[in-house]
Amino acid sequence: MTPRPTIIDCDPGTDDAIALWLALASPELDVRMVTVVGGNVGLQATLANARAVVGLSGCSVPVVGGADRPLLGRFEDAAYVHGDNGLGGLVLPEGPPAAHGLAADAIRAALRAAPRHSMTLIGLGPATNLGLVFATEPALADNVAEIVLMTGALGEGNVTPSAEFNAWNDPEALDIVLTAGAPVTLATLDVTNQALCRPKHVTALRAASQGACATAAADIWDSVAPSRRSGEQGHEQHDACAVAWAVAPHLFTHADVAARVDCSQGIGRGRTVIDRWGRKPRAPNARFLDKVNADGFFDLVIERLARLP
Ligand code: RIB
Ligand code: CA
Repeated sequence: MTPRPTIIDCDPGTDDAIALWLALASPELDVRMVTVVGGNVGLQATLANARAVVGLSGCSVPVVGGADRPLLGRFEDAAYVHGDNGLGGLVLPEGPPAAHGLAADAIRAALRAAPRHSMTLIGLGPATNLGLVFATEPALADNVAEIVLMTGALGEGNVTPSAEFNAWNDPEALDIVLTAGAPVTLATLDVTNQALCRPKHVTALRAASQGACATAAADIWDSVAPSRRSGEQGHEQHDACAVAWAVAPHLFTHADVAARVDCSQGIGRGRTVIDRWGRKPRAPNARFLDKVNADGFFDLVIERLARLP
């Protein structure tokens, strides 16, 4: 199998860290670049965390900083979930310096040089960097194979009753990406809620490897409280679901949907409006991940993280 050329945009973020290690450990992906956005915590911390996570993996992948705020509106973090440093308090060795330049410019340059329909973009944070790419150079969508986004929810949100955090943080950017014309796959809360990390998974990861990355990932998993949404059953591996789709799509079922996002200033702001059953005559513009084999998902994550140093 030819590894998929891939760019990952993220806001580490406890679950972003796990997703990045999964991607970097998976031969199905050729991770060309990691770009960073403010989200779970401010950009200064998310950039430092991305550098540290990539550095610990031993992979020489450039890390490029990007937007520290949404296209419109005020930046709000989720430190209440991820801790003030964004990694649940875990302190990793400082990673290599960030590459020069800005995320949107670096992604545009990479897409300009890419063959048609060749580059996979995986978005794990607010979509600001990706939105800037397609707002300023829409033709680059033609060089994209697939955009996989952890974003949105068919049902209830997790930052407001209407909206999931990434979509809520920058709905205008998300709408630009959803309408850019490239194939889009959505890993929403509806599928990530099925990938709940439980104590047995932490035990299995520690047993599988005592390497630095696996140990750090287990420590991160230990640091995150079970979510109320899951009835305190565990904590959702949101971002790793998006990466797992790109690595092992057989673990998922999916459906074609029409998806847009509410960019109003009302109580629905940031809600992803997903037409699951084709109620309105609007052509599908996204693939919606419906079910995930949770056991297979965690087997994959643990097996791949155990490959890292
Ligand atoms: O709502 C969950 C998403 O928001 C995840 O990507 C998490 O890391 C935060 O970015
Ligand atoms: Ca994230």
